[in-house]
Amino acid sequence: MESLVDRARRVLVGGVNSPARALTRPGPLVVESASGPYLNVDGMGRVVDYILGYGPLILGHSPEPVAEAVREQLGRGWLYAALAEAEVELAEAVARHVMPGGKVRFVNSGTEATMTAIRLARGYTGRDLILKFEGNYHGAHDSVLVSAGSAAASLGVPKSPGVPGSLARLTLVAPYNSVDAVEEVFEERGGDIAAVIVEPVAGNYGVIPPRRGFLEALRRLTSRHGALLIFDEVITGFRLALGGAQEYYGVRADLVTLGKIIGGGFPIGAVVGPRHIMAHLTPEGPVFNAGTFNGHPVSMVAGLATIRELERGALKRASEAARALEEAFRDALDPLGVDYTINRVESMMQVFPGVGEVSEPSHVSAADAKAYIRLHEALLRRRVLVTPSIHEAIFTSSAHAPEVVEETAEALRSAVREALSG
Ligand SMILES: Cc1ncc(COP(=O)(O)O)c(C=O)c1O
Repeated sequence: MESLVDRARRVLVGGVNSPARALTRPGPLVVESASGPYLNVDGMGRVVDYILGYGPLILGHSPEPVAEAVREQLGRGWLYAALAEAEVELAEAVARHVMPGGKVRFVNSGTEATMTAIRLARGYTGRDLILKFEGNYHGAHDSVLVSAGSAAASLGVPKSPGVPGSLARLTLVAPYNSVDAVEEVFEERGGDIAAVIVEPVAGNYGVIPPRRGFLEALRRLTSRHGALLIFDEVITGFRLALGGAQEYYGVRADLVTLGKIIGGGFPIGAVVGPRHIMAHLTPEGPVFNAGTFNGHPVSMVAGLATIRELERGALKRASEAARALEEAFRDALDPLGVDYTINRVESMMQVFPGVGEVSEPSHVSAADAKAYIRLHEALLRRRVLVTPSIHEAIFTSSAHAPEVVEETAEALRSAVREALSG
């Protein structure tokens, strides 16, 4: 009989709906159900999940408080195209933690959040250029699917066919964590730059924490030149701290984009900013944003239930799980005497075989990606799932109790020997 993966490959592009899912070999994992820290994978059984939806599931799979909130919402209908209490409550919770006194616009994905924030920054400042960083990811829209060109002028070039070169040139690109490069760009083009958009911790090129002084320099330069600073906290929001990277690093942004965690595993994105900037968005102002599903009641109640659990200590438990997992990786790797780096910020981390330091994207490119894939595959054979890509992050959740991580530590010892020794 034809397998589900074969059927998928006939009707879905690449057999999946988002490319990272096609990276596992021999094909995408087929998941039958999920609960707590575990996926139930066809042909494998129970697998400890450290991908966790690529970030949203900080409470693990199907946590009861979220399930209950969703069930309750479903009993009352699920799309009103009007105003509902849950939107206001989630906006209040988000604003309280991320930008007290600020306003929120809910959209449906991190992609929509950064697209909207960039349009808002351009509309607010009347400038066209934005500056982003090589090695940062802000979703799948044209202004950010841009790489550094070869010219010193840092003009971006399309990262994908279909992105117009004329649009890509409005996105300047600098290396992540290089204050010198950003200073140079601002010296040349400072008066034309609407916004700098940055992942405060790079979480889509492995995990690269900001160098000391990097975020502060972005704050200083944007303020000096009248540009907005956008923190893309789609991953770091409600993960590093309830107030995200702004709270964790003590640097305030002008606009914050959120997604993932604040929808509790349901589709969501958000732009958060001060009233005087947010007032430029429709319907208060002229900068266009709209969406059939904006503020979807199911995402709202799921996000609210998630934030409440994080406030009650789940955020700390997710970080503790990652600390234990990092220790387990080190205990397994150290006896081998091989070079490696582990970068971890609270409950996001990545392991880089073959390099002694990872503080900029070029260091990730220098890591032994093949060894990483061997490690991913050796772990998967032992029913532990870490991302198949060294360019993604390993996540933990509050459902990864000490005994779950201990189970992983055992698998790690033999997987690491199989994948990385000799
Ligand atoms: C930092 C960052 N920004 C934006 C996005 C895009 O979010 P979405 O996939 O919800 O469109 C992602 C997705 O991984 C992300 O990590």
